[in-house]
Amino acid sequence: MGSAAPATYPCRMRSALLLTGGALLCAACAAPGRPIPAQDPRMDVHSHARPHEVRVRHVDLDLELDFAAQIVRGSATLALERTVPGAGLVLDTKGLTIERVAGADGAPRAHRLGAADPILGSPLAVTLAPGDTDVTIHYRTGPGAEALQWLAPAQTGGGRHPFLFSQGQAILTRTWIPVQDSPGVRITYSARVRAPSALRVVMSAVHADEGPARDAATREWRFRMPHPIPPYLIAIACGDLEFRALSARCGVYAEPGTVDRAAAELSDTEAMVQAAEALFGPYRWGRYDLLVLPPSFPFGGMENPCLTFATPTILAGDKSLVALVAHELAHSWSGNLVTNATWRDFWLNEGFTVYFEHRIMARVYGEERAAMEQSIGLTHLEEELRTLKPEDQVLHIDLAGRNPDDAMTAVAYDKGAAFLHRLEQVFGRATFDAFLTRYFDAHAFRSITTDEFLAWLRHELLDRDPTRARAIDVDAWVRRPGLPADTVRPRSRAFAQVDAVVAKLAQGEDPVAGDAHGWVTHQWLHFLEHLPPGVDAAGMARLDGVFGFTGSGNSEILAKWLELAVRRGYAGADARLEDFLLHVGRRKFLKPIYEAMAATEAGRVRARAIYARARPRYHAVTVRTLDQIVLGTAG
Ligand code: BES
Ligand code: ZN
Repeated sequence: MGSAAPATYPCRMRSALLLTGGALLCAACAAPGRPIPAQDPRMDVHSHARPHEVRVRHVDLDLELDFAAQIVRGSATLALERTVPGAGLVLDTKGLTIERVAGADGAPRAHRLGAADPILGSPLAVTLAPGDTDVTIHYRTGPGAEALQWLAPAQTGGGRHPFLFSQGQAILTRTWIPVQDSPGVRITYSARVRAPSALRVVMSAVHADEGPARDAATREWRFRMPHPIPPYLIAIACGDLEFRALSARCGVYAEPGTVDRAAAELSDTEAMVQAAEALFGPYRWGRYDLLVLPPSFPFGGMENPCLTFATPTILAGDKSLVALVAHELAHSWSGNLVTNATWRDFWLNEGFTVYFEHRIMARVYGEERAAMEQSIGLTHLEEELRTLKPEDQVLHIDLAGRNPDDAMTAVAYDKGAAFLHRLEQVFGRATFDAFLTRYFDAHAFRSITTDEFLAWLRHELLDRDPTRARAIDVDAWVRRPGLPADTVRPRSRAFAQVDAVVAKLAQGEDPVAGDAHGWVTHQWLHFLEHLPPGVDAAGMARLDGVFGFTGSGNSEILAKWLELAVRRGYAGADARLEDFLLHVGRRKFLKPIYEAMAATEAGRVRARAIYARARPRYHAVTVRTLDQIVLGTAG
C-alpha cells in the first residue's frame, strides 16, 4: 500500500473505500456476512480466514513439546481486532484437535470445525461474545502435523537426543497453531514453551529467556516477536543445540558435533549483514542468528526472522555455498519486512531476494562470483521453463485450487530476479538502489500484492523517467510466459574457461586434471550443468577417475553428479547415491535424482526400494513431492 494507490480495486465503487486492517474494501463489500469479492487481489485463496471481519493481531502461545507422543499441546490466545460487529472469528487449522475455546472470562465459546480441504485444512469458526477482544484455543497437534518433523536420536548428528523443527511456509503453520494463516495477516507473537531440560528451544523471535525449571525433567523457554510478521514465519526448533557467537549480533546454533564447523563456514555473516544494510537500509530485527539443522531439513534455508534455519549441506568447508546465507538474510527485507500478500505474489518475496542475494554476494565476495551465481540461476530457469506450462511461466501466477508449494519454481526466483536486474540496467544502479530503499521503507512491516508493487513502480520509477521506461515492457515480464529477450546475461571469464573444456569433451577428447586447475565450486557446477550429452557411462567413469566427483564433499556438486550418474547409467556412484538418498532430506537435491531414477523401469524399482527406507526420514514437504515422483500419487 504505502502512499501508492492500488492499480485495481476490489470492486468498482472507488468512491466508498474503507481501509479495514490493511484490506481495501468499499462499504458494500464490508457489510456483515458478505464474502470478499473474488476479484480482490488481496483475497487469499489459501486461507479460510475472514480478516476483513475479525483480524488476529497477536498470538500468545503456551505450549508443551511432548517428544514421547510426538505432539505439541497447549493453548493459543489470540488478540482480535473486530471491524464487523457480530461477525465470528474464522481460523485456519489442519489436523488440530481443538479441546476447548474460551473467552477472556474463561467461559467457553461455541466453535465449529468445518470440513477438511485436503490442501487448506479445516476452518475453525468461533462465535464471539460482544465484548470479546481475545479468545484462547486449547488444542493439540495431530500425529502427522506437516509443519513438524520429530527426529529420533539416530537421525541427529549426536545420536543421543531427539530433535524437533517446524517449517511453516507456505501454509503449514496451521498444522501446529490455529491462526489466520495468510501472509496478508500480520501478527506479533509471544511464547512459553516447555521441553525436556536436556534440550534447548529456539524460535524465530527477538528475545529468548530461559524460564524457571518446572521440575527436574522440564524447562520452560520464553520468546517474543514484537514486529508484526506473517504467520508462516513463526518457527520453532528443539534439540541438543550449542551456540557460537559470530559477532555482537550474529551467531549460530547447531548440534555440538557440527557447531564449530558451522561457525567457521558462516564467519562472514556479519560482513553480509553490513553489506545488506549498506545497500538497502538498516537491519530491523535485532539479532541475526542461524540454526544449522540435521540433514533431513527439507529446504536449503528458511528465513525465519532473527533465526534463519539452514541445511547442513551448505557446510562445504570452503564457504562456496554461503550464497544461501545471503539469500535468507536478504529476506529480512524482501519477504519478512515487505511480504507477499498472497502466494500469487510469491515472486515479490523470492525474486527480490535472489536479486538482493546477488548484490550482497558481489559486495562481500566480488562481482565475478556473483556473476557466476547469477548465471547458474539463469541456466536453471531456462531448464525449468522447458518443463512448465505457459500459465506457470508468469510471475503473477494463478494458484487457485492448487498447493502454493507449486509456485516454488525458478520463475518466482530467477525470472523475478532477472526482471529486477533488467530494471537496474535500464535506470542505472544508483537510481534503482534508491528506489528499492524507498520501497522497503515505505512498505516496512506490510504485506503487498503484485498490483500494489506495480503501481508503486510506475509512480516511483517509470513515470519519473518515461524515456528509459520505454526500454522495458513490464507487462511482458510480469504476465507473459518465457524469458524476455532483454534479460541481462552476466559474462563470466571463469565460465568461459569451463566452456573450453566442455567443447573439448564434446569433440570426444577427455579432459585431464590440469584442464581444471584451480576451478572453484561454481565452475564445477557449470561444467556438470553443460556436460555434453555424448558422455556415456564409460565417459562418466573416466571423468570420475580424473576428478573424483563421487567422492566430492560439496553437496551441490555431488547432487548434480549423482543425477547425471543415474541419467547416463554410470553405476560407479551407486553406493554413494544410496547413502545420499538415505541421509539427506533437502528436496531440491532429491527431486531431480528420484526423477532421473523414475525415468527407467529398472531405475524405478531401485528408487522404490530406497524410498521405502528413506521416506520415514524425510519431512512432509519432501514426502509430498517425492510420493508423486516415486509412487505416482496425486499431489
Ligand atoms: N523461503 C524459501 C523457502 C520456501 C519457499 C519454503 C516456499 C516453503 C515454500 C527460502 O528462502 C528459499 O528460497 N530457500 C532456497 C535457497 C535459496 C538460496 C534459493 C532453498 O531452500 O533451496
Ligand atoms: Zn527465498
